[in-house]
Amino acid sequence: MGRSQRLYIYILIGFFIWFIVFISQILYFSSFSVHNYCWFSSCKNIFVSSQVPPNNQQKILSSYEKSLLTRIHHQPLLQQYESRHVNFLHLIKPSVKPNKYLIYTCNQPCGGWGDRTRKIVGAYLLSLALNRTFLINMTWPCSITNLLEPNFIQWNQTINNLSQRTNRTIDKLTSSDKDYDDVLSWKHIDIIYFKVKDLSYYRLILWRDDFYRNLDLNYGLHRSILFVHSIFTLVYELLFKLKPHPQSHMDEIAEKFSLNSLQCAHIRIGKNPSNPNDVVFPKREHMNTSVIGFLKNNSKSHEIIFVSTDSEQVHTYAKQQFHSRLLTVDGMIRHIDRSGKKFACHGLEKTILDFYMISQCRTMIMSKSAFSFWANMRRLKPYENLYLYCDGIKKIHGTSDYDRYPYGQC
Ligand SMILES: *[C@@H]1O[C@H](CO)[C@@H](O)[C@H](O)[C@H]1NC(C)=O
Ligand SMILES: *[C@@H]1O[C@H](CO)[C@@H](O)[C@H](O)[C@H]1NC(C)=O
Ligand SMILES: *[C@@H]1O[C@H](CO)[C@@H](O)[C@H](O)[C@H]1NC(C)=O
Ligand SMILES: *[C@@H]1O[C@H](CO)[C@@H](O)[C@H](O)[C@H]1NC(C)=O
Ligand SMILES: *[C@@H]1O[C@H](CO)[C@@H](O)[C@H](O)[C@H]1NC(C)=O
Ligand SMILES: *[C@@H]1O[C@H](CO)[C@@H](O)[C@H](O)[C@H]1NC(C)=O
Ligand SMILES: *[C@@H]1O[C@H](CO)[C@@H](O)[C@H](O)[C@H]1NC(C)=O
Repeated sequence: MGRSQRLYIYILIGFFIWFIVFISQILYFSSFSVHNYCWFSSCKNIFVSSQVPPNNQQKILSSYEKSLLTRIHHQPLLQQYESRHVNFLHLIKPSVKPNKYLIYTCNQPCGGWGDRTRKIVGAYLLSLALNRTFLINMTWPCSITNLLEPNFIQWNQTINNLSQRTNRTIDKLTSSDKDYDDVLSWKHIDIIYFKVKDLSYYRLILWRDDFYRNLDLNYGLHRSILFVHSIFTLVYELLFKLKPHPQSHMDEIAEKFSLNSLQCAHIRIGKNPSNPNDVVFPKREHMNTSVIGFLKNNSKSHEIIFVSTDSEQVHTYAKQQFHSRLLTVDGMIRHIDRSGKKFACHGLEKTILDFYMISQCRTMIMSKSAFSFWANMRRLKPYENLYLYCDGIKKIHGTSDYDRYPYGQC
């Protein structure tokens, strides 16, 4: 064989190996699992039903199930997950062990709204992995059931004979082998009061085979969708919707203002007269004028502006600059975790309405804050027209840029 022929064969083999590796990577990280990938859009509907009972390929959807899927289809934030083969029906009616609960509990300070919602997503996924009914008991600073109600997942069920059930409170959980064994030992306990302050256990859900397989096979939650930023909106929307009273407040605002090109900023400056007990953030002294100046320079004169802030002074300044262009959500400006129970309770409604308002924004300037980060995730195109104030305003380009905030460096 000639030299050039051999070279040619080596190149061919090299290409072949590269191709195999490339294809395996795609399959491993893609949003669909191999065993149920649907090649034609026309098989999508069958697909939804075929997943429910694995042995019964032709299961006919009940009219109730159809109506659920239709409702999901009409909620844009959930609709975006349809193409990712999430098994909505199973998520709404999970296969749980009777009388076993995991209750996300917050009855004392447990973080701001952004932090809490992120922790709820983690707790929810853990409850799925463990086949436990997921409940939420959030009573600090006052009960969230005044403002939010279950959307698809009934997290407000009551437990009969509560006092007779075995319970354990979990404050700390990591992904270590020891903690994994601990989680397995919860098996015989009826109620897990879940109060873990961070997501360091999240790797259990992603990488422990028994947990992950349950999520993947039964609920269509493939690893590529399980990273918190990808799954946040799915879980949040399945869990929560505004109660009629705050919802009517939002509807009134939508009627009064044209929200088509809403320009927004979340200006979280830290300790200030409205929030005297808050932490002091360095390098945010000029955030007030600089963010509002930026909005002014970069918006057209007919566009509506929305500023969510932890400071009355910033709000007043924005009002002076934008007059009737400024959309305001009435209510008291208070951090829900750092203001004492009474004030914080008054502030809760505004905090949550602000969170929902941000989902309408076409342009968003974030603070380095969990509230900014997770509220922004609920915009339909979270990575478009997105800026971060971080000792100056910088543009955020795409997911990888985004993921470094707010927990990483500027
Ligand atoms: C949850 O239930 C599934 C089957 O429904 C089972 O395969 C899995 O082992 C269960 N997981 C736990 C932690 O009980
Ligand atoms: C929820 O919390 C309240 C107050 O902290 C408590 O009285 C109630 O029993 C809790 N509910 C459940 C189901 O744990
Ligand atoms: C749970 O919320 C739903 C919807 O708001 C409501 O109809 C139901 O009565 C609530 N259940 C309990 C036990 O509070
Ligand atoms: C609650 O406890 C009472 C007395 O122990 C028992 O008779 C009843 O069946 C229990 N109810 C449930 C729903 O477990
Ligand atoms: C949890 O169980 C203990 C007994 O092990 C009991 O004293 C305690 O009241 C229970 N806690 C709740 C919130 O029911
Ligand atoms: C902006 O914030 C700085 C520092 O807190 C303050 O001194 C200044 O008065 C504020 N400017 C306006 C216009 O509110
Ligand atoms: C806004 O524009 C003015 C004039 O062009 C400029 O002086 C100012 O620095 C700009 N402000 C911001 C925050 O970009």
